[in-house]
Amino acid sequence: MPQLTQLSLTQFKNYASSQFFFDKRIVGITGLNGVGKTNFLDAIHFLCLTKSYFTKTDQAAVRHGEIGFRLEGMFERSSFTEKVSCVLRESGKKEISVNGSSIQKQTDHIGNYPLIFIAPDDTLLITGESKVRRAYLDQLIAQLYPDYLRNLITYNKLLQQRNALLKEMAEKKTNHSTVLAAIDQQTIPAGNYLHKARVKTINDLIPQILRLYNKIAEKPGESTEEISIQFNSQLDHFNFEQLLANNQQRDIFLQRTTQGPHRDDIFIGMHGQAFKVIASQGQRKSLLFALKLAALHILEKKNDSPPLLLLDDLFEKLDEVRVQNLIKLVFEQTVSQVFITDTSANRLASNLQKLNLPYQICCL
Ligand SMILES: Nc1ncnc2c1ncn2[C@@H]1O[C@H](COP(=O)(O)OP(=O)(O)O)[C@@H](O)[C@H]1O
Ligand SMILES: [Mg+2]
Repeated sequence: MPQLTQLSLTQFKNYASSQFFFDKRIVGITGLNGVGKTNFLDAIHFLCLTKSYFTKTDQAAVRHGEIGFRLEGMFERSSFTEKVSCVLRESGKKEISVNGSSIQKQTDHIGNYPLIFIAPDDTLLITGESKVRRAYLDQLIAQLYPDYLRNLITYNKLLQQRNALLKEMAEKKTNHSTVLAAIDQQTIPAGNYLHKARVKTINDLIPQILRLYNKIAEKPGESTEEISIQFNSQLDHFNFEQLLANNQQRDIFLQRTTQGPHRDDIFIGMHGQAFKVIASQGQRKSLLFALKLAALHILEKKNDSPPLLLLDDLFEKLDEVRVQNLIKLVFEQTVSQVFITDTSANRLASNLQKLNLPYQICCL
Protein backbone atom coordinates (compact mmCIF):
# COMPACT_ATOMS: atom_id res chain seq x y z
CA MET A 1 0.00 0.00 0.00
CA PRO A 2 -0.65 2.33 -1.64
CA GLN A 3 -1.13 -0.07 -4.51
CA LEU A 4 -2.30 1.10 -7.90
CA THR A 5 -5.27 -0.96 -9.09
CA GLN A 6 -6.50 1.11 -12.05
CA LEU A 7 -4.98 3.62 -14.38
CA SER A 8 -6.75 5.56 -17.08
CA LEU A 9 -5.09 7.86 -19.57
CA THR A 10 -6.91 10.33 -21.78
CA GLN A 11 -5.14 12.41 -24.42
CA PHE A 12 -1.87 11.72 -22.62
CA LYS A 13 1.16 11.45 -24.96
CA ASN A 14 0.45 8.61 -27.43
CA TYR A 15 -2.70 7.46 -25.56
CA ALA A 16 -6.09 8.63 -26.89
CA SER A 17 -8.08 6.86 -24.21
CA SER A 18 -6.95 3.72 -22.38
CA GLN A 19 -7.67 2.00 -19.13
CA PHE A 20 -5.66 -0.67 -17.28
CA PHE A 21 -6.37 -2.81 -14.23
CA PHE A 22 -3.81 -4.29 -11.84
CA ASP A 23 -4.34 -6.87 -9.15
CA LYS A 24 -0.73 -7.87 -8.44
CA ARG A 25 2.19 -6.31 -6.66
CA ILE A 26 4.47 -6.97 -9.61
CA VAL A 27 3.30 -5.69 -12.96
CA GLY A 28 5.27 -6.34 -16.14
CA ILE A 29 4.55 -4.04 -19.08
CA THR A 30 5.59 -5.26 -22.47
CA GLY A 31 5.29 -4.11 -26.06
CA LEU A 32 7.40 -3.10 -29.02
CA ASN A 33 9.54 0.03 -29.07
CA GLY A 34 7.45 3.17 -29.33
CA VAL A 35 4.23 1.54 -28.14
CA GLY A 36 4.05 3.74 -25.00
CA LYS A 37 5.66 1.77 -22.15
CA THR A 38 7.71 4.69 -20.87
CA ASN A 39 4.72 7.03 -21.29
CA PHE A 40 2.64 4.65 -19.21
CA LEU A 41 5.15 4.87 -16.35
CA ASP A 42 5.30 8.63 -16.75
CA ALA A 43 1.53 8.80 -16.21
CA ILE A 44 2.01 7.11 -12.82
CA HIS A 45 4.79 9.60 -12.06
CA PHE A 46 2.40 12.46 -12.84
CA LEU A 47 -0.25 11.09 -10.48
CA CYS A 48 2.19 10.62 -7.59
CA LEU A 49 4.53 13.57 -8.02
CA THR A 50 2.37 15.99 -10.07
CA LYS A 51 4.74 16.23 -13.03
CA SER A 52 6.50 14.32 -15.78
CA TYR A 53 9.75 12.52 -15.09
CA PHE A 54 10.89 13.51 -18.58
CA THR A 55 9.29 16.58 -20.12
CA LYS A 56 9.97 20.06 -18.78
CA THR A 57 6.49 21.35 -19.56
CA ASP A 58 3.12 19.76 -18.85
CA GLN A 59 2.05 20.77 -22.33
CA ALA A 60 4.54 18.36 -23.93
CA ALA A 61 2.61 15.48 -22.39
CA VAL A 62 -0.62 16.39 -24.20
CA ARG A 63 -1.37 14.09 -27.11
CA HIS A 64 -0.45 15.87 -30.35
CA GLY A 65 -3.39 17.78 -31.79
CA GLU A 66 -5.36 17.77 -28.53
CA ILE A 67 -5.86 20.31 -25.76
CA GLY A 68 -5.26 19.10 -22.21
CA PHE A 69 -5.10 15.60 -20.73
CA ARG A 70 -6.67 13.64 -17.89
CA LEU A 71 -5.07 10.89 -15.80
CA GLU A 72 -6.81 8.89 -13.13
CA GLY A 73 -5.48 6.26 -10.77
CA MET A 74 -7.12 4.20 -8.06
CA PHE A 75 -4.76 3.67 -5.14
CA GLU A 76 -5.65 1.04 -2.60
CA ARG A 77 -4.37 1.50 0.92
CA SER A 78 -4.93 -1.02 3.71
CA SER A 79 -8.38 0.14 4.66
CA PHE A 80 -9.49 2.58 1.96
CA THR A 81 -9.18 3.47 -1.70
CA GLU A 82 -8.22 6.84 -3.12
CA LYS A 83 -8.91 8.12 -6.58
CA VAL A 84 -6.16 10.47 -7.66
CA SER A 85 -6.64 12.58 -10.78
CA CYS A 86 -4.35 14.89 -12.60
CA VAL A 87 -5.97 17.08 -15.22
CA LEU A 88 -4.33 19.60 -17.48
CA ARG A 89 -7.04 22.06 -18.49
CA GLU A 90 -7.35 23.96 -21.77
CA SER A 91 -6.15 27.04 -19.91
CA GLY A 92 -2.88 25.25 -19.10
CA LYS A 93 -3.85 24.98 -15.44
CA LYS A 94 -3.03 21.65 -13.81
CA GLU A 95 -5.37 20.27 -11.18
CA ILE A 96 -4.61 17.46 -8.80
CA SER A 97 -7.45 15.99 -6.82
CA VAL A 98 -7.88 13.13 -4.40
CA ASN A 99 -11.37 11.62 -4.14
CA GLY A 100 -12.74 14.67 -5.90
CA SER A 101 -11.18 17.22 -3.53
CA SER A 102 -8.83 19.56 -5.24
CA ILE A 103 -5.31 19.76 -3.79
CA GLN A 104 -4.39 23.42 -3.52
CA LYS A 105 -0.62 23.13 -3.58
CA GLN A 106 1.50 20.47 -5.26
CA THR A 107 3.68 20.50 -2.14
CA ASP A 108 0.69 19.11 -0.20
CA HIS A 109 0.47 16.10 -2.51
CA ILE A 110 4.13 15.22 -3.01
CA GLY A 111 5.26 12.65 -0.47
CA ASN A 112 1.85 11.06 0.02
CA TYR A 113 2.44 8.68 -2.88
CA PRO A 114 6.18 8.02 -2.60
CA LEU A 115 7.77 6.81 -5.80
CA ILE A 116 11.13 6.01 -7.35
CA PHE A 117 11.60 5.91 -11.13
CA ILE A 118 14.59 4.23 -12.72
CA ALA A 119 15.13 4.84 -16.43
CA PRO A 120 18.08 3.82 -18.65
CA ASP A 121 19.06 7.41 -19.44
CA ASP A 122 19.48 8.05 -15.75
CA THR A 123 23.18 7.17 -16.07
CA LEU A 124 23.45 10.92 -16.73
CA LEU A 125 23.19 11.04 -12.97
CA ILE A 126 26.74 9.74 -12.98
CA THR A 127 28.20 11.23 -16.16
CA GLY A 128 26.17 14.43 -16.48
CA GLU A 129 26.44 17.89 -15.00
CA SER A 130 26.09 18.59 -11.28
CA LYS A 131 22.50 19.79 -11.70
CA VAL A 132 21.42 16.22 -12.46
CA ARG A 133 22.81 15.06 -9.10
CA ARG A 134 21.19 17.97 -7.29
CA ALA A 135 17.90 17.02 -8.96
CA TYR A 136 18.34 13.45 -7.67
CA LEU A 137 18.72 14.75 -4.13
CA ASP A 138 15.93 17.28 -4.52
CA GLN A 139 13.46 14.71 -5.87
CA LEU A 140 14.14 12.48 -2.90
CA ILE A 141 14.14 15.14 -0.19
CA ALA A 142 10.96 16.75 -1.56
CA GLN A 143 9.24 13.45 -0.83
CA LEU A 144 10.70 13.31 2.66
CA TYR A 145 10.00 16.79 4.02
CA PRO A 146 6.98 18.89 2.95
CA ASP A 147 8.92 22.12 3.57
CA TYR A 148 11.77 21.20 1.27
CA LEU A 149 10.12 21.90 -2.06
CA ARG A 150 8.72 25.19 -0.75
CA ASN A 151 12.23 26.29 0.24
CA LEU A 152 13.70 25.08 -3.03
CA ILE A 153 11.14 27.02 -5.08
CA THR A 154 11.72 30.12 -2.95
CA TYR A 155 15.49 29.78 -3.26
CA ASN A 156 15.38 29.39 -7.04
CA LYS A 157 13.06 32.35 -7.45
CA LEU A 158 15.26 34.57 -5.28
CA LEU A 159 18.36 33.40 -7.10
CA GLN A 160 16.82 34.49 -10.39
CA GLN A 161 15.91 37.88 -8.94
CA ARG A 162 19.37 38.25 -7.47
CA ASN A 163 21.06 37.41 -10.76
CA ALA A 164 18.84 39.84 -12.68
CA LEU A 165 19.72 42.56 -10.18
CA LEU A 166 23.45 41.78 -10.37
CA LYS A 167 23.25 42.09 -14.14
CA GLU A 168 21.56 45.45 -13.89
CA MET A 169 24.11 46.66 -11.34
CA ALA A 170 26.95 45.64 -13.63
CA GLU A 171 25.48 46.95 -16.86
CA LYS A 172 24.06 50.23 -15.65
CA LYS A 173 26.62 50.78 -12.92
CA THR A 174 23.76 51.52 -10.54
CA ASN A 175 23.87 50.81 -6.85
CA HIS A 176 21.04 48.61 -5.67
CA SER A 177 22.69 47.45 -2.49
CA THR A 178 19.56 47.91 -0.37
CA VAL A 179 17.50 45.74 -2.72
CA LEU A 180 20.33 43.21 -2.87
CA ALA A 181 20.47 43.10 0.92
CA ALA A 182 16.70 42.57 1.04
CA ILE A 183 16.94 39.65 -1.41
CA ASP A 184 19.85 38.15 0.52
CA GLN A 185 17.89 38.40 3.74
CA GLN A 186 15.38 35.93 2.29
CA THR A 187 17.85 33.84 0.31
CA ILE A 188 19.98 33.00 3.35
CA PRO A 189 17.36 31.09 5.40
CA ALA A 190 16.11 29.21 2.31
CA GLY A 191 19.68 28.29 1.32
CA ASN A 192 20.55 27.20 4.85
CA TYR A 193 17.46 25.02 4.97
CA LEU A 194 18.42 23.31 1.68
CA HIS A 195 21.96 22.73 2.90
CA LYS A 196 20.89 21.21 6.19
CA ALA A 197 18.35 18.88 4.57
CA ARG A 198 20.82 17.80 1.87
CA VAL A 199 23.60 17.05 4.36
CA LYS A 200 21.29 15.02 6.54
CA THR A 201 19.91 13.05 3.61
CA ILE A 202 23.25 12.37 1.94
CA ASN A 203 24.66 11.13 5.25
CA ASP A 204 21.84 8.61 5.38
CA LEU A 205 22.25 7.76 1.70
CA ILE A 206 26.01 7.16 1.47
CA PRO A 207 26.24 3.92 3.52
CA GLN A 208 23.22 2.58 1.63
CA ILE A 209 24.67 3.44 -1.78
CA LEU A 210 27.98 1.74 -0.92
CA ARG A 211 26.23 -1.36 0.42
CA LEU A 212 23.93 -1.65 -2.60
CA TYR A 213 26.67 -1.00 -5.14
CA ASN A 214 28.72 -3.84 -3.73
CA LYS A 215 25.76 -6.17 -3.86
CA ILE A 216 24.80 -5.31 -7.44
CA ALA A 217 28.32 -5.28 -8.84
CA GLU A 218 29.26 -8.46 -6.97
CA LYS A 219 30.28 -11.41 -9.13
CA PRO A 220 31.25 -14.83 -7.84
CA GLY A 221 35.04 -15.12 -7.48
CA GLU A 222 35.70 -11.46 -8.19
CA SER A 223 36.32 -8.68 -5.73
CA THR A 224 34.27 -5.55 -6.23
CA GLU A 225 35.74 -2.13 -6.88
CA GLU A 226 36.05 0.26 -3.96
CA ILE A 227 34.10 3.44 -4.49
CA SER A 228 33.85 6.60 -2.41
CA ILE A 229 31.12 9.23 -2.25
CA GLN A 230 31.36 12.77 -1.02
CA PHE A 231 28.89 15.64 -0.88
CA ASN A 232 30.50 18.95 -1.79
CA SER A 233 28.89 22.21 -0.78
CA GLN A 234 30.42 25.64 -0.33
CA LEU A 235 28.21 25.89 2.74
CA ASP A 236 30.14 23.05 4.39
CA HIS A 237 33.01 25.42 5.10
CA PHE A 238 31.48 28.90 5.19
CA ASN A 239 28.41 30.51 6.59
CA PHE A 240 26.06 31.37 3.69
CA GLU A 241 25.60 34.97 4.79
CA GLN A 242 29.36 35.44 4.83
CA LEU A 243 29.76 33.73 1.46
CA LEU A 244 27.30 36.11 -0.17
CA ALA A 245 28.87 39.14 1.49
CA ASN A 246 32.45 38.13 0.65
CA ASN A 247 31.61 37.46 -2.98
CA GLN A 248 29.38 40.45 -3.63
CA GLN A 249 31.85 42.41 -5.78
CA ARG A 250 32.80 39.32 -7.74
CA ASP A 251 29.11 38.44 -8.23
CA ILE A 252 28.40 41.92 -9.59
CA PHE A 253 31.37 41.66 -11.91
CA LEU A 254 30.33 38.20 -13.17
CA GLN A 255 26.61 39.12 -13.11
CA ARG A 256 25.59 35.96 -11.27
CA THR A 257 25.59 34.41 -7.82
CA THR A 258 28.77 32.38 -7.74
CA GLN A 259 28.36 30.64 -4.39
CA GLY A 260 25.52 28.77 -2.72
CA PRO A 261 23.55 25.52 -2.64
CA HIS A 262 22.89 25.85 -6.38
CA ARG A 263 26.52 24.79 -6.80
CA ASP A 264 26.32 21.67 -4.59
CA ASP A 265 27.51 18.38 -6.09
CA ILE A 266 28.08 14.77 -5.20
CA PHE A 267 31.55 13.47 -6.04
CA ILE A 268 31.93 9.77 -6.69
CA GLY A 269 35.42 8.30 -6.82
CA MET A 270 36.94 4.95 -7.67
CA HIS A 271 40.62 4.09 -7.07
CA GLY A 272 41.26 7.76 -6.30
CA GLN A 273 39.85 8.99 -9.62
CA ALA A 274 36.46 10.28 -10.73
CA PHE A 275 34.12 7.32 -11.15
CA LYS A 276 32.50 8.83 -14.25
CA VAL A 277 35.84 8.93 -16.03
CA ILE A 278 37.06 5.41 -15.39
CA ALA A 279 33.97 3.30 -14.76
CA SER A 280 32.75 0.81 -17.36
CA GLN A 281 29.20 0.94 -18.67
CA GLY A 282 28.24 -1.97 -16.41
CA GLN A 283 29.72 -0.26 -13.37
CA ARG A 284 27.87 2.95 -14.16
CA LYS A 285 24.64 1.06 -14.46
CA SER A 286 25.29 -0.72 -11.15
CA LEU A 287 25.96 2.60 -9.44
CA LEU A 288 22.83 4.11 -10.94
CA PHE A 289 20.73 1.34 -9.42
CA ALA A 290 22.56 1.69 -6.12
CA LEU A 291 21.80 5.44 -6.03
CA LYS A 292 18.14 4.87 -6.83
CA LEU A 293 17.59 1.90 -4.54
CA ALA A 294 19.33 3.77 -1.72
CA ALA A 295 16.80 6.58 -2.22
CA LEU A 296 14.05 3.98 -2.13
CA HIS A 297 15.44 2.63 1.13
CA ILE A 298 15.41 6.11 2.71
CA LEU A 299 11.84 6.74 1.54
CA GLU A 300 10.75 3.36 2.83
CA LYS A 301 12.23 4.12 6.27
CA LYS A 302 10.61 7.52 6.50
CA ASN A 303 7.12 6.69 5.32
CA ASP A 304 4.31 4.62 6.71
CA SER A 305 3.62 3.52 3.18
CA PRO A 306 6.39 1.94 1.11
CA PRO A 307 7.16 3.55 -2.25
CA LEU A 308 6.07 2.49 -5.70
CA LEU A 309 8.95 1.50 -7.95
CA LEU A 310 8.95 2.11 -11.70
CA LEU A 311 11.65 0.25 -13.62
CA ASP A 312 11.91 1.25 -17.25
CA ASP A 313 13.77 -1.15 -19.58
CA LEU A 314 15.38 -2.84 -16.61
CA PHE A 315 16.96 -5.65 -18.57
CA GLU A 316 18.66 -3.48 -21.19
CA LYS A 317 22.44 -3.20 -21.04
CA LEU A 318 22.83 -5.25 -17.88
CA ASP A 319 24.48 -8.63 -17.88
CA GLU A 320 22.65 -11.70 -16.55
CA VAL A 321 24.47 -11.78 -13.19
CA ARG A 322 23.78 -8.13 -12.47
CA VAL A 323 20.12 -8.51 -13.46
CA GLN A 324 19.70 -11.37 -11.00
CA ASN A 325 21.49 -9.49 -8.18
CA LEU A 326 19.34 -6.51 -8.88
CA ILE A 327 15.99 -8.24 -8.95
CA LYS A 328 16.79 -9.97 -5.69
CA LEU A 329 17.74 -6.64 -4.14
CA VAL A 330 14.61 -4.90 -5.35
CA PHE A 331 12.46 -7.43 -3.58
CA GLU A 332 14.57 -7.39 -0.44
CA GLN A 333 13.45 -3.79 -0.03
CA THR A 334 9.90 -3.02 0.88
CA VAL A 335 8.05 -1.74 -2.10
CA SER A 336 4.33 -1.44 -2.36
CA GLN A 337 4.30 -2.28 -6.04
CA VAL A 338 6.72 -2.58 -8.92
CA PHE A 339 6.07 -1.78 -12.58
CA ILE A 340 8.70 -3.19 -14.94
CA THR A 341 8.80 -2.59 -18.68
CA ASP A 342 10.57 -4.67 -21.31
CA THR A 343 10.33 -5.02 -25.07
CA SER A 344 10.72 -8.79 -24.84
CA ALA A 345 7.69 -10.53 -23.32
CA ASN A 346 9.66 -13.78 -22.97
CA ARG A 347 12.61 -12.23 -21.19
CA LEU A 348 10.28 -10.34 -18.85
CA ALA A 349 8.20 -13.42 -18.01
CA SER A 350 11.24 -15.63 -17.43
CA ASN A 351 12.85 -13.09 -15.10
CA LEU A 352 9.64 -12.55 -13.14
CA GLN A 353 8.96 -16.28 -12.84
CA LYS A 354 12.26 -16.76 -11.04
CA LEU A 355 10.99 -14.60 -8.20
CA ASN A 356 8.27 -17.03 -7.17
CA LEU A 357 5.97 -14.13 -6.43
CA PRO A 358 2.59 -13.39 -8.00
CA TYR A 359 2.89 -11.13 -11.03
CA GLN A 360 0.87 -10.03 -14.02
CA ILE A 361 1.87 -8.96 -17.49
CA CYS A 362 0.18 -6.19 -19.47
CA CYS A 363 0.78 -6.24 -23.20
CA LEU A 364 0.50 -2.79 -24.78
N1 LIG B 1 2.63 14.38 -26.76
C1 LIG B 1 2.59 13.28 -27.52
N2 LIG B 1 1.57 13.06 -28.38
C2 LIG B 1 1.53 11.96 -29.15
N3 LIG B 1 2.46 11.01 -29.14
C3 LIG B 1 3.51 11.17 -28.32
C4 LIG B 1 3.63 12.30 -27.46
N4 LIG B 1 4.77 12.19 -26.75
C5 LIG B 1 5.33 11.04 -27.15
N5 LIG B 1 4.59 10.42 -28.08
C6 LIG B 1 4.85 9.17 -28.77
O1 LIG B 1 4.99 8.13 -27.86
C7 LIG B 1 5.83 7.14 -28.44
C8 LIG B 1 6.92 6.69 -27.51
O2 LIG B 1 6.37 6.12 -26.42
P1 LIG B 1 7.30 5.49 -25.34
O3 LIG B 1 6.50 5.41 -24.12
O4 LIG B 1 8.61 6.18 -25.26
O5 LIG B 1 7.51 4.06 -25.99
P2 LIG B 1 8.27 2.80 -25.42
O6 LIG B 1 8.76 3.14 -24.07
O7 LIG B 1 7.25 1.71 -25.41
O8 LIG B 1 9.37 2.53 -26.40
C9 LIG B 1 6.49 7.73 -29.65
O9 LIG B 1 5.93 7.16 -30.79
C10 LIG B 1 6.16 9.21 -29.53
O10 LIG B 1 6.01 9.81 -30.76
MG1 LIG C 1 10.67 3.27 -23.35
